[in-house]
Amino acid sequence: MQQATTATEQPADRANAPRYDLRQIDVDPNFWYPVAWSSKVRPGKAFAARFAGHPIALIRPEYGPVYALEDRCAHRQVPLSKGVVDDKGCIKCCYHGWAFDQQGKCVTVPYLNKEGVGRPVKAYPCREKSGLIFIFPGDPDLADKVPVPDIAQVGNPEFKTRQFSPRLKCHYTFMHENLMDMNHQFLHRRQMGSITARFLGQDKGDNFMEARYSFARKGGNQPLAEALIFGKHHDDGREQPVEEVVSIRTTYPYQTLQIHDKDGDLIMDLWACYLPLGETQQVTQAFGLLSVKKPKWTFLLDLAWPVLGLFTHRIFEEDREVVEMEQNAWRELGGDHNIEVFPVVKSLRDLLARSGVPNRHAQPLEQG
Ligand code: FES
Ligand SMILES: [Fe+2]
Repeated sequence: MQQATTATEQPADRANAPRYDLRQIDVDPNFWYPVAWSSKVRPGKAFAARFAGHPIALIRPEYGPVYALEDRCAHRQVPLSKGVVDDKGCIKCCYHGWAFDQQGKCVTVPYLNKEGVGRPVKAYPCREKSGLIFIFPGDPDLADKVPVPDIAQVGNPEFKTRQFSPRLKCHYTFMHENLMDMNHQFLHRRQMGSITARFLGQDKGDNFMEARYSFARKGGNQPLAEALIFGKHHDDGREQPVEEVVSIRTTYPYQTLQIHDKDGDLIMDLWACYLPLGETQQVTQAFGLLSVKKPKWTFLLDLAWPVLGLFTHRIFEEDREVVEMEQNAWRELGGDHNIEVFPVVKSLRDLLARSGVPNRHAQPLEQG
């Protein structure tokens, strides 16, 4: 069993850095963020996405890779995503038909028939991987130096993967906290029965932190969907230890949850990224991929798939309700009044605060 690690000392420059309300810290744009599922952007079509208040047009030519432009025509700022993809793969604005290429250059102003009169629009570095379309919203010169994330077990034939992308009315940091903090199983007592988490330890570094837990069932029956993932826990009438280890890791800006069985084999792998939609980043589109190890008889998992979907959906809806209530309280109180007592969440908040960027409304908090 891995041991709990002790908290590392904060470097002096970090300890003296001004502190901000965590809910006023924007995500660092110098990472790859998923903005749509690949399947939503059909060949020869454009799709409207968003990153932190910036409208993004994703365009997939009939042939060739998908690309991303600012979703405002350089002429009168109507969305390019309402336009038409022409046979050269350019996007033609729906209004006067100005056409823009993959780099955002205006290649045609049809009624003037003269090169170079139209202004360009901004182009974003864009990649497609694991069924998602990613953009790099920050400094484009950094895009090639930052890896597009490897996602869970997508493409691994030993796993079956479910996609989900709920929209939540809360700051992305509430989502990281919710998943990392397994002490909230009380919230899920109706779905999962009475289980308690035992904290096994944490690791942390400059850009990540990980917490590990095991669980014990204090009462209630094991839900069917849980038994399908973990196998049945035989209950001999005593308090039931659950021997799987759950590891939750935020590797900024992404988050994963992995479950290893008692033999140390990976049986579930969740990858999530929380995309801020609005300018104040208080509405979040989560992109999640949940991979479950296939049993010997794969059809059993196929049969159970809808049950599993319903189970995870119900749990997620409970989480959604609380994170949105937390955001409402923040709004009503005019700031973050979170009294955090759990070292794991304190470390996570520190990671998110130092990795992100204070927004233009943020004022340094008084030290103390
Ligand atoms: S607004 Fe796009 S071409 Fe005029
Ligand atoms: Fe939860």
